[in-house]
Amino acid sequence: MHQLLLKNISQLVTVGTGGDRVKAGGAQRELGVMENASVLIENGVFRWIGTQGDAPPGLKEDITVIDASGKIALPGFVDSHTHLVFAGSREYEFAMRAGGKTYQQIAEQGGGILSTVHATRQATKRDLKRLAQGRLDAMLQQGTTTVEIKSGYGLDPDSEVKMLECIHELSEEQYSTVVATFLGAHAFPPEFRDSRDSYVDLVCDRMLPYVAKRRLAQFCDVFCESGYFSVDQSRRILLRAHELGIKLKVHADELAASGGSVLAAELRAASADHLEHIDSDGIALLKNAGTVATLLPGVSFFLNHGYAPARKLIDAGVPVALASDFNPGSCMSFSMPLMMTIACTHMGMTPEEAISASTINGAAALDLSDNYGSIEIGKKADIVLYDVPNYRYLIYHFGTNHVSLIIKHGVILEF
Ligand code: NIG
Ligand code: FE
Repeated sequence: MHQLLLKNISQLVTVGTGGDRVKAGGAQRELGVMENASVLIENGVFRWIGTQGDAPPGLKEDITVIDASGKIALPGFVDSHTHLVFAGSREYEFAMRAGGKTYQQIAEQGGGILSTVHATRQATKRDLKRLAQGRLDAMLQQGTTTVEIKSGYGLDPDSEVKMLECIHELSEEQYSTVVATFLGAHAFPPEFRDSRDSYVDLVCDRMLPYVAKRRLAQFCDVFCESGYFSVDQSRRILLRAHELGIKLKVHADELAASGGSVLAAELRAASADHLEHIDSDGIALLKNAGTVATLLPGVSFFLNHGYAPARKLIDAGVPVALASDFNPGSCMSFSMPLMMTIACTHMGMTPEEAISASTINGAAALDLSDNYGSIEIGKKADIVLYDVPNYRYLIYHFGTNHVSLIIKHGVILEF
């Protein structure tokens, strides 16, 4: 039974929930901050939390003690929306956008998602895994300890399974907690350009049952947007996934208010993601459905296409999560501190809301908040120390990595 004691933490941000699965409304600003705190970890789980002067109970002789004076501690970040398994890169599209082309124009000319599909189909599972391992390690080094990863750059049965097997192997072999999402409905593959409903049939009749049988994904997601999957096509796919015991997410209202958030609420999806164009009806429906709104500030910044109405969502009582959406097209960054900085400078979120959004609410979007997303007794010991004077400084001083020590499931990681 190994013990680890972190003592003299200048500022401990617990993001404590007192047992709630998610933080919404005013509670999203409550971080449970403690000064001069100590945390005892035993067998990979938080065992005791106290302040200077309190005596931790039952200390063993072989305990490891870390003096965290001058550092702050936060729960490991939960990045609940990424596309981090892919081959190739798209800096030429970035340059085209700099020259005035839009994301949609580039996609219509055969670039966009389909160019990454081309590269990913050609890559072996081994190649994909090697690339993804490097990315997951780099994310850990920046404080992200839990990561959701979507398929969706295969778009045929074999290539989607190759991606999901790769994600599964990463979940077994990497330090990070990895959650797999099947996104066979990310775009229509070129083979089905003129028979879109037949592709939906393929997803519903062959891909989803196979994914469910082999338990290759915990979630199913759909890019519900005009030009991609219609509301009816998205509903068919998500209902089939639900029938097969797979939980739901939706890429919703990214390019226009196209019914995605309404559908997410109707199906009580775990999360509706993007929401740059959600309207007030959509906001009310998400609130009633208990669906997490996962906002992706890096995409709005990178594509320069407007920001989701975070303030309205939070004020309406919808729990807001932040994620990177890391992918080669619309956000080539997985820095959660950067996402928080953009959320505060462009979306009207407070630093406190941004931190809840990147920890406990991200965990809730993955249905993991019983075990992850806050520093509370009994939860998995994912805790990161930063060399900064206080938590606001972490978001304020952007574009640099302030991480000093990463502890995942109670293990100190060395890089
Ligand atoms: O979440 N919106 C759809 N899919 C991704 C972009 C993927 C890509 O461009 O490769 C997103 O932004
Ligand atoms: Fe995405």
